[in-house]
Amino acid sequence: MYLGVDLGTSGVKVLLISADQTIIASATSSLDVQRKHTGWSEQDPAEWVRAVEDAIGELKAEQPEALAEVKGIGLSGQMHGATLLDRNNQVLRPCILWNDTRSHKEAAELDSDPRFRRITGNIVFPGFTAPKLVWVKRHEPEVFAATAKVLLPKDYLRLWLTGEHISEMSDSAGTGWLDVERRTWSEELLAATDLTVSHMPSLVEGTEPAGMLRRELAERWGIGGNVVIAGGAGDNAASACGAGTVKPGSAFISLGTSGVLFATNDRYLPNPESAVHTFCHALPNTWHQMGVILSATDGMNWLSGITGTSPAYLSDELGEALRAPSPVTFLPYLSGERTPHNDALIRGSFTGIEAGTSRAQLTQAVMEGVAFAFRDNLEALRQAGTTLDRVMAVGGGSRSTYWLKAIATALNLPVDVPTGGDRGAAFGAARLGLIAATGADPLSVCTPPPIAATIEPDTFQSGALEEAYQRFRKLYPAIRGVSS
Ligand code: XUL
Repeated sequence: MYLGVDLGTSGVKVLLISADQTIIASATSSLDVQRKHTGWSEQDPAEWVRAVEDAIGELKAEQPEALAEVKGIGLSGQMHGATLLDRNNQVLRPCILWNDTRSHKEAAELDSDPRFRRITGNIVFPGFTAPKLVWVKRHEPEVFAATAKVLLPKDYLRLWLTGEHISEMSDSAGTGWLDVERRTWSEELLAATDLTVSHMPSLVEGTEPAGMLRRELAERWGIGGNVVIAGGAGDNAASACGAGTVKPGSAFISLGTSGVLFATNDRYLPNPESAVHTFCHALPNTWHQMGVILSATDGMNWLSGITGTSPAYLSDELGEALRAPSPVTFLPYLSGERTPHNDALIRGSFTGIEAGTSRAQLTQAVMEGVAFAFRDNLEALRQAGTTLDRVMAVGGGSRSTYWLKAIATALNLPVDVPTGGDRGAAFGAARLGLIAATGADPLSVCTPPPIAATIEPDTFQSGALEEAYQRFRKLYPAIRGVSS
């Protein structure tokens, strides 16, 4: 048996798989986010420990025999958070999370130092870890002075599980301090934020062993001895391991609250100018690119809220066949945008509304706007040297076949829809636990799921949709010009 532990922002999920990767059981425990001021987003690391204890307690109550057989544990987690510890491993302040934007000024300052983009291959986004430490140094100098270690959220869980300070490449690539091509901490970038390598955990690959479960915890959970903890991964790379997106050229599109276009590469292919994230994958000698759009199903949920109609009903109202593009264009920037604009202040818009505009035309515009935002991401990845010939759709929004048709046509790529099953980050983490404990070949473990259906681009509407995409592209510079 192998256990995956995914530390999300809204909760912890634990998932148990057998040696043949059958899902045996799972349990969750929720987490709150503290927002003391506008733009702040924090969690107390003690709550993460409490949530893991609760979820594993539930697994133990349901499946004590299976839990007793666990040989490996993999960790996945929300990325970028800054967990600051003193020399006795005591937490110095609440963790500053990935979606906390207080350090946007510090991020812009670091980003204007050309060494950061050159060495990390990424823009220094406000959510990344390095600018958070600059903010802490300025606003809480006593905390900065007492900081002996900086850990990412899941690596704090590892410290509790194993007693060791260890991280892995995929999550560390989102700090702003990793030399992403060489897969090592950059002393130069750490020094630029008044830190040294001694403040950082040691590094392994996500598939490698990274500590052993402490005896006290093993006894409490009724698990036998010698349980290996895998390096694990940031949540996006862990999801890719779960969805089998590990071979170069493979890609998934995730339609969650936010949207992700994730592509695996066998080389380091940065393109910070288009706000593409270029991170290490959880597997050795593998990297990935990622375009992130901040509002995907969020757009549909918003429309559903103000029309008092469920997202599923809104989608069904459009019927089966892809319609000619909506006369209305929607920019889906409800919370700003990352790829390709890196613009925290831009907001969404509808253009082209007239007296006769129907609800269905607005729904269509929202779906098309998100599809076009993914197309922008695809173009950004292409500019960085990635070629894709198909993508897999994951996440709640992929239940709308109409939406997937719009996406397939806007991207001009077939979209594969996997068969049902829980193959997210916790499953990917469990796979990494299996690999680290058994030494199995990562590519033969992280296989893609069976495909239930493939949605092909609609050749009948593709010309019209391409024209609509070109109109969409012209709107961002125009709207930005009047709104900021
Ligand atoms: C990735 C990112 C998010 C967090 C959320 O860059 O910011 O996906 O990892 O969990």
